[in-house]
Amino acid sequence: MECITISKLENWKKNKKKFAAITAYDFSFSKLFSNQGIPVILIGDSLGMTIQGHSSTLPVKVQDIEYHTKAVRKGAPNTFLLSDLPFMSYYETRQALKNTAKIIRSGANMIKIEGGKWLVEIVKELSNRSILVCGHIGLTPQSFNYLSGYKVQGKEKKDANKLIDEALLLEESGIKMLVVECIPEKLAKKITKNLSIPVIGIGSGKYTDGQILVMHDLLGITEGKKPSFTKNFLSENGSIQKSIQKYIYEVEKGIYPNKKYSF
Ligand code: KIV
Repeated sequence: MECITISKLENWKKNKKKFAAITAYDFSFSKLFSNQGIPVILIGDSLGMTIQGHSSTLPVKVQDIEYHTKAVRKGAPNTFLLSDLPFMSYYETRQALKNTAKIIRSGANMIKIEGGKWLVEIVKELSNRSILVCGHIGLTPQSFNYLSGYKVQGKEKKDANKLIDEALLLEESGIKMLVVECIPEKLAKKITKNLSIPVIGIGSGKYTDGQILVMHDLLGITEGKKPSFTKNFLSENGSIQKSIQKYIYEVEKGIYPNKKYSF
């Protein structure tokens, strides 16, 4: 597969080419996903739930992300890798710089951090040191206690405006990509239009530049209550390879997520 860089993703945004992203945590799946043509893989702190069996992402450590980033990089040498900085690993700038170095050394192209205005200084310091930073706003799972659960964000006008302001502020501060999680489709559309960097949506409708899903949701591995925006591609497509191809196809053509999978 061709090597995916940030400038390629920026060009896709300019040319309105949509792209699919997925989480992965190990060598075998990252190899399979990249062989099917997935351009962006997230080593998400969702591994706390999907791999480690915790009930939230909060127990995940920087060492865990380093370990899984190294494994994913071995399977996907040309894929654009985005790795999460876990809970409380970036509460102040020096600490964010130190932990980012560990994760970038493990093979990530970009780090992802959750939050709004309070991140401005940290984003500036990281960007000044040529680190690619992805923001993450809307439903930020590291704040689930504060948010009283995993709920759609930005439904009220004032909350929607706050998210728009945060997205613009983070872009001004230096982020090169933004994940918007569980926000209404209309709001995600507005944010995507207002920003010149690629915006990746999860549970945020079809108008974002990219889509991301947790691999366990896409493959129907998640037991019990699943987020309503997730689609089990494996049940219709027979093999994991075909499911990934279908996911890429549906995202690129704007078929997934349709209204059923949006807010
Ligand atoms: O950790 C993760 O998997 C994520 C996605 C839900 C975007 O942050």
